[in-house]
Amino acid sequence: MINKVIEIAKEAGEIIREGFRKNFLIEYKTNASNLVTEIDKKSEELIINYIRKEYPSHSIIAEESGIQKFSSEYVWVIDPLDGTTNFAHGLPIFSVSIGIQKNNETICGVVYDVMRNAMYQAELGSGAYCENRRLHVNNNEDLEKSVLVTGFPYNIKENPDYAIERFIAFLKCTRAIRRLGSAAIDMCYVAEGVFDGFWEVFLNPWDVCAAKLIVEESGGIVTDFNGNKATIFSKQFLASNPKIHPKMLEVLKLNER
Ligand code: IPD
Ligand code: CA
Ligand code: CA
Repeated sequence: MINKVIEIAKEAGEIIREGFRKNFLIEYKTNASNLVTEIDKKSEELIINYIRKEYPSHSIIAEESGIQKFSSEYVWVIDPLDGTTNFAHGLPIFSVSIGIQKNNETICGVVYDVMRNAMYQAELGSGAYCENRRLHVNNNEDLEKSVLVTGFPYNIKENPDYAIERFIAFLKCTRAIRRLGSAAIDMCYVAEGVFDGFWEVFLNPWDVCAAKLIVEESGGIVTDFNGNKATIFSKQFLASNPKIHPKMLEVLKLNER
């Protein structure tokens, strides 16, 4: 199945690459920060048409078109373009993210970093790869030497779940913090040991389904801010190597008001 998922993620990526820095329609969703372009929709349409044709009984959770519920134990969880703000502004950091769950457990995940042409993939129990390279989280346990990555929800101005205080707390105790603008890519960089850890609040299932499995199959841990195992529906995400994980939890807790 994963080869088929890779194929369709590549095709979606081609639509996105062709549309990059061209004229495309942009609409607002909840506010002026929350965009959707016609390319997001085209990418999603391609993926959904494929599923409807090849796996008509499978359910779907997709960012732009919502939920299609059928009787099957399989659910496809799709972000057709993760990093829409980057895409809309001509910044070449965005991805296609497709995860498949069977009986509520993710069994396969693919994140395609479109402009780097890098296909991240994992199957439950079989490790994670980028092309033929096996991925491993890094071993750093020292926050002072860490480079972390994060993102902000579209309602960040309301400072949901003390997101701003937590950001400041990490700024003060790490080497550097990055904000790339695609949660799926952020987590893949944790999986391959580039970043030591990632945290963010109020992500959606389509942002994390594939990348969570990729991190876990690379030896990483994904929890909420209390250290409880995350699900794709969790509202807090901490994904990191196992050594720095308890230290990141401390920072997240210390900062609670
Ligand atoms: C967004 C990106 C971003 C994250 C936001 C997401 P979208 O997804 O993953 O990095 O900070 O929380 O909503 O809207 O570009 O698919
Ligand atoms: Ca997303
Ligand atoms: Ca998206």
